[in-house]
Amino acid sequence: MTNKLDDMPLRKIDHVRFFVGNARQSAYFYRNAYGFDVVAYAGLETKVKNEAGYVLKQGGIHFVLISPLRASHPESKRLIQHGDGVSDIALQVDDVQVAYRMAVERGAQGVVEPQAIEDQYGIYEYATIQAYGDTTHTFVNRDRYHGAFAPGFDPIDPARYNPATYHSTGLLAIDHIVGNVEEGKMNQWVDFYRKVLGFEQLVSFDDKDISTEYSALMSKVVEGGRGRIKFPINEPAHGRRRSQIEEYIDFYGGAGVQHIALATNDIIKTVRALRDNDVSFLRVPRTYYDSLKDRVGDIKENIEELADLGILVDRDDEGYMLQIFTKPVQDRPTLFFEIIQREGAKSFGKGNFKALFEAIEREQAIRGTL
Ligand code: FE2
Repeated sequence: MTNKLDDMPLRKIDHVRFFVGNARQSAYFYRNAYGFDVVAYAGLETKVKNEAGYVLKQGGIHFVLISPLRASHPESKRLIQHGDGVSDIALQVDDVQVAYRMAVERGAQGVVEPQAIEDQYGIYEYATIQAYGDTTHTFVNRDRYHGAFAPGFDPIDPARYNPATYHSTGLLAIDHIVGNVEEGKMNQWVDFYRKVLGFEQLVSFDDKDISTEYSALMSKVVEGGRGRIKFPINEPAHGRRRSQIEEYIDFYGGAGVQHIALATNDIIKTVRALRDNDVSFLRVPRTYYDSLKDRVGDIKENIEELADLGILVDRDDEGYMLQIFTKPVQDRPTLFFEIIQREGAKSFGKGNFKALFEAIEREQAIRGTL
């Protein structure tokens, strides 16, 4: 079905911006644990006065880590409120002016009006609108820009990060980015993506699909950019005890990005490399693998190998998928990552939710937040 709002000129996720307490150290973590190459830097040395920024790249994934250099930075209070987390999901568009104007006309709250910044590498265009919580979407067009990343950024100095010590973990692309929103707000944000950004709603789960003794959530998935941008939106539902979504909202101080799913085409190799780098993953009980073959049928991977690494498998009408979730990447139980390999399946692992939620609840019980 053709969406009447398909004229919204979204191409793909351009980059994800993280606002963090210490971008220099976060860059080291994402480089040496997750296998991102550090490719560009902005800061005092590049005449940027109030913040430091590092651009990290792996496959088609770009992360931008930003830290304020002074308390007077306009966003410095984010760190007290949210801790480290995703501040912006930037979307590449054909035309920044058109995207911004259309979004605002349809009800988006503008944050930064369209800007065209020119330096010796060309013209970088962007504009920003508000999304859930303090998260924003920046529309970016870099068709006329040929610098390292954006004005203010220089290529990374090899003396800061030695290319010879860099090792990829095989991550290729962002598969989806999940937002947690407050109870009762899921449909409002699904409507925002549909009506303002021209996304389509894919599938929905309710608390009958996704609940354990304690934890429950509702989730709907919206998709835009002709299938290249997928945003599941979760809200807490009532379980017997506090749900993982409530725990997130409590510690993050509002709605925000819960997890980013990163795609690989060899999840066994990727997860081995991540584990060798001390990335910690959620584990499901070994019994999960006893019934795996009955549940998902034939898969090309060795089930023993999947069990050793704790990789989960789910099947839908179109194929199967393999996935695994990291533990939160900061002390607050907020943002985490998913590693995913799709073998035809387009779904999000509903068949794994129960086993996963029980694993998350074991962690919540240890934190005393269940
Ligand atoms: Fe996911």
